[in-house]
Amino acid sequence: MKEQLKTIQEKALAEIKNASDTKVLDDLKVKLLGKKGELTAILKQMGGLSPEERPQIGQLANDVRQSIENGIANMREQLKAAQTELKLKSERVDVTLPGKHFSQGRRHPLNTVLDELKEIFKGMGYSVVDGPEVEETKYVFDMLNTDEGHPARDPQDTFYITDSILLRTQTSSVQIRTMLEQAPPIAIISPGRVYRRDAVDSTHSPIFHQCEGLVVDKGITFSDLKGTLEMFAKRLYGNDVKVRFRPHHFPYTEPSAEVDLQCFKCGGKGCPLCKGEGWIEMLGSGIVHPQVLINCGIDPEVYSGFAFGIGLERIAMMRYEVDDLRLFYENDQRFLKQF
Ligand code: DAH
Repeated sequence: MKEQLKTIQEKALAEIKNASDTKVLDDLKVKLLGKKGELTAILKQMGGLSPEERPQIGQLANDVRQSIENGIANMREQLKAAQTELKLKSERVDVTLPGKHFSQGRRHPLNTVLDELKEIFKGMGYSVVDGPEVEETKYVFDMLNTDEGHPARDPQDTFYITDSILLRTQTSSVQIRTMLEQAPPIAIISPGRVYRRDAVDSTHSPIFHQCEGLVVDKGITFSDLKGTLEMFAKRLYGNDVKVRFRPHHFPYTEPSAEVDLQCFKCGGKGCPLCKGEGWIEMLGSGIVHPQVLINCGIDPEVYSGFAFGIGLERIAMMRYEVDDLRLFYENDQRFLKQF
């Protein structure tokens, strides 16, 4: 029996030494020391030993058990240490490598201008509304008093999808949608993209941005329009800015005016940027035509209103002294980084 115990011990310690991971060790522990293990089988035979042999063999069996347990515990430590070592090696970071370069983006100048514009009008009590870019002709033209045959409807200038659906050429369509949905008093602005079949050059692009404005209430006059737009220009460009109202024609306003800003480049003397005029056109505006109010179910005997449409690119060009519209759309980092 002594021999048997020795053999069990040697075999066990050899197997423990060969264990490749802790899972194997766990299985070994069950196999060697468990109820069905060889050691247990021997201990069960101890009943047949003489009283002299029993304590000796008992002692030996305990020693064997202890040495197997120690062997397993030691091996477990070794395996764990090896695993940690491996993990550390595989996760090692070379802190001397150069870092990845993340370039920080910034707000596009058109968005910056739009945000400012919104803040200015919100401060005057306007709310901001949205409207579709793919729009019906009745909202873009008909209800805005712009009949068939008007040059603004010319397919040469407009992207038609069908005879009655188009990419809106102006944000003025949102005026109609707003008046149909909302009863006066109304004070809204509506910024967004508009589309025209223009060839690209330094002042034209087939896609550009406008911001529409509409106020309808009792007793609105041209002086409200003038005061509002003058205030807007001052908030945007400072109190010294000079604004000019120039008579114009729009089918949906009467009277109508275009609003010019004194040229930032030459201070009004005349230069290539303002084409020698000394002034740069900023927006179109006017008193809402009574027929437009009637088209939207608003009684022009009770209510009146003013409206305006601002060209966002224009504003940004003047604001940042950018002399080519194309720069806003080219995504050239060298340009965008400057803002
Ligand atoms: N829709 C005009 C344009 O695209 C701008 C405009 C003029 C808007 C007068 C208006 C307005 O609301 O009243 O040039």
